[in-house]
Amino acid sequence: MVLSILYVFTCGLLCGTHALDNGLALTPPMGWLSWLRFGCTIDCDAKPNECISENLIRRTADLMVSEGYLAAGYRYITIDDCWLEKERSPDGRLVPDKKRFPNGMKALSDYVHSKGLLFGIYEDYGNMTCERYPGIRGHELYDADTLASWETDYLKLDGCFADVEGMSKGYPAFGRILNATGRPILYACSWPFFQETNGIRPNYSSVADSCNIWRNWYDIRNSWSSVQSVMTWIGDNQDRLAPHAGPGHWNDPDMLVIGNSGLTVDQAQVQMAVWSILAAPLMMSVDLAQIDPAFKQILLNRDVIAVSQDKLGKQGLRVWKSGFYSTRPQQEIWHRELSEGARAIAFVNMQATFVTVSYSYDNMKLPSLQYIIKDLYNVRKEKTLRPGEKLTVHINPTGVKFYKFAPMT
Ligand SMILES: *[C@@H]1O[C@H](CO)[C@@H](O)[C@H](O)[C@H]1NC(C)=O
Ligand SMILES: *[C@@H]1O[C@H](CO)[C@@H](O)[C@H](O)[C@H]1NC(C)=O
Ligand SMILES: *[C@@H]1O[C@H](CO)[C@@H](O)[C@H](O)[C@H]1NC(C)=O
Repeated sequence: MVLSILYVFTCGLLCGTHALDNGLALTPPMGWLSWLRFGCTIDCDAKPNECISENLIRRTADLMVSEGYLAAGYRYITIDDCWLEKERSPDGRLVPDKKRFPNGMKALSDYVHSKGLLFGIYEDYGNMTCERYPGIRGHELYDADTLASWETDYLKLDGCFADVEGMSKGYPAFGRILNATGRPILYACSWPFFQETNGIRPNYSSVADSCNIWRNWYDIRNSWSSVQSVMTWIGDNQDRLAPHAGPGHWNDPDMLVIGNSGLTVDQAQVQMAVWSILAAPLMMSVDLAQIDPAFKQILLNRDVIAVSQDKLGKQGLRVWKSGFYSTRPQQEIWHRELSEGARAIAFVNMQATFVTVSYSYDNMKLPSLQYIIKDLYNVRKEKTLRPGEKLTVHINPTGVKFYKFAPMT
């Protein structure tokens, strides 16, 4: 196996690039990731329910099934940083922390698979992970082999302690090594983020040829201001980003903050709506044993998830905003084209006061047709809209109205 991997690796470097074709992420991937909520908590004596451990993953896997998240589409359960021992084994293999993962990763992966879920793990392209555990640099063939032997389905490959310019070649090269393992592994790259934040414009065609999803910008944090700043950056740079999204390859504005202390219910509705418009991965990061029902309902909203997973696979855009003359946005319209001529439109109020606004077809960038409009957070309400009419929306402070527009035939 190592020989055939070596051949592909060398050929990959010498024989030019090929589009990524691993059959994965045909719609934006959905799942759960440990980082935002659990970070690098490693003291299981002090925090038995929060430390990065097989117990956390098994408990979360159980809840993903029993509480209906899997049925709604959330399939990947991914362990972020801090699952490793600080040293490799004498023969150079990655070793999971012996105390926190006493049964090893293959047994944990088997457990996750037995629940009908998919198993994800974190590593780093450089010398060390961001929290200073062993990175894959210099061990690429071994590590890909190890991940495949654990039946990994998803790899988040971070980019700390690495040569940022070299990522343009290094990430694709590692993608070919993953491919050569013969196991389809969803490849989540951090290469654009490290380049964007180091003053290098990533070549997004090349990124989309190599990665299933890729982080564009800084880590999201547990706050409304963080969600807002990610939205603003994506909106301001959408012309460079959106054209590269499509089935198999998506921009990733980072995890859903929903269900933690940082967002109100209204703000959580904003993030869920805008992430669905953006065809972004929907990765929860929350303690599913503790989540409040109001947030759970947002995460499980089938109509909103249907927007996210729409088969046309087109990333939506921020098509309008008020407050051009102030540095702070006030209201924004985010619009995604869906299959069968439908549209999903989120009317976001960034201000901390109630607003009532009337929007024209032009503001909404709506083709001049007659529509049936459905409120995706209040599905009993439907109305029709005709060309020439305006749509009046009342929006809560830092909240959203999220509508699907279906053309009338
Ligand atoms: C490897 O790449 C080839 C060519 O793009 C593709 O057909 C195949 O499905 C890939 N295999 C895996 C396991 O990703
Ligand atoms: C990674 O380690 C190698 C070998 O020790 C060293 O040459 C390189 O400078 C390191 N790179 C970074 C970005 O730390
Ligand atoms: C970007 O990558 C694409 C696909 O790999 C390649 O065809 C193109 O030449 C690259 N563009 C630049 C400016 O390097």
